[in-house]
Amino acid sequence: MTDIHTTIDGLRAALAPHRADGRRIVLVPTMGALHAGHLALVRHARSVGDVVVVSIFVNPLQFGPSEDLDRYPRTLDADIVALDALVDLVFAPSATEMYPEGAGGTMIAAGDVGTLYEGASRTGHFDGMLTVVAKLFNIVQPAAAVFGQKDAQQVFLVRRMVRDLDLPVTIEVEPTVREEDGLALSSRNRYLDASDRRAAVMLSAALTDASDAASRGTAAAREAARMRLEPEQAVKLDYLVIVDPATFLPVADDYRGPASMLIAARVGTTRLIDNASLQLG
Ligand code: PAF
Repeated sequence: MTDIHTTIDGLRAALAPHRADGRRIVLVPTMGALHAGHLALVRHARSVGDVVVVSIFVNPLQFGPSEDLDRYPRTLDADIVALDALVDLVFAPSATEMYPEGAGGTMIAAGDVGTLYEGASRTGHFDGMLTVVAKLFNIVQPAAAVFGQKDAQQVFLVRRMVRDLDLPVTIEVEPTVREEDGLALSSRNRYLDASDRRAAVMLSAALTDASDAASRGTAAAREAARMRLEPEQAVKLDYLVIVDPATFLPVADDYRGPASMLIAARVGTTRLIDNASLQLG
């Protein structure tokens, strides 16, 4: 039976004996609405740790005023069933438990890369995300934490925060889990109606086309992705960018080597993101 905690003190008390026994604690931070992608993170956590903690918290600080905080799916009972037998502890605090004084307190600043791509479309998103991740690291004090590659910019910024602030935690990253047709799993996919769902697959198709064209250079990769997305009326592209994975800044046109293509688009009323590694020739 999974041990479920809603308070910071309760969770810390439950973790104390594990820590005293020298057991390796691994955290999987989530916002719930769990799907097979989250379960892959949990399985990875199990393979690298002795005690697996999953946090389920829809973090208000990482949603802008016009975003889907109220509408974000909350499926705690089903999440707990899905995690049963896979994890040792679930931490599902309220917003008041995490932010007793509400918003307006100390925040982590995500810095320059935090204002690009997702950060440009979602002002303050990464400051809020890093703030809650830092709090979770302090509350759980895990040896490692597992994140999904689907949120590539989040992974880059979490790694940078860990480096910049000398946080004693190892970041593990698991590949994106996809539907059979390529659509990246996301808690927001449940918002897609049947016709949006058909259109949404174009994001991963565009990434595949870009990857196939990558040996011909950045312009060819970008053009291949755009050709796939542009005819699809239901897909409103927000950004399509090729970045250097080391800096997360856009690559120059003559760049050769490993890169990541990031795509964000609105499909119907749902904002989706996806990314893929490219080898640019
Ligand atoms: O990726 C997410 O689900 C969230 O951004 C995270 C890391 C749980 C922080 O709220």
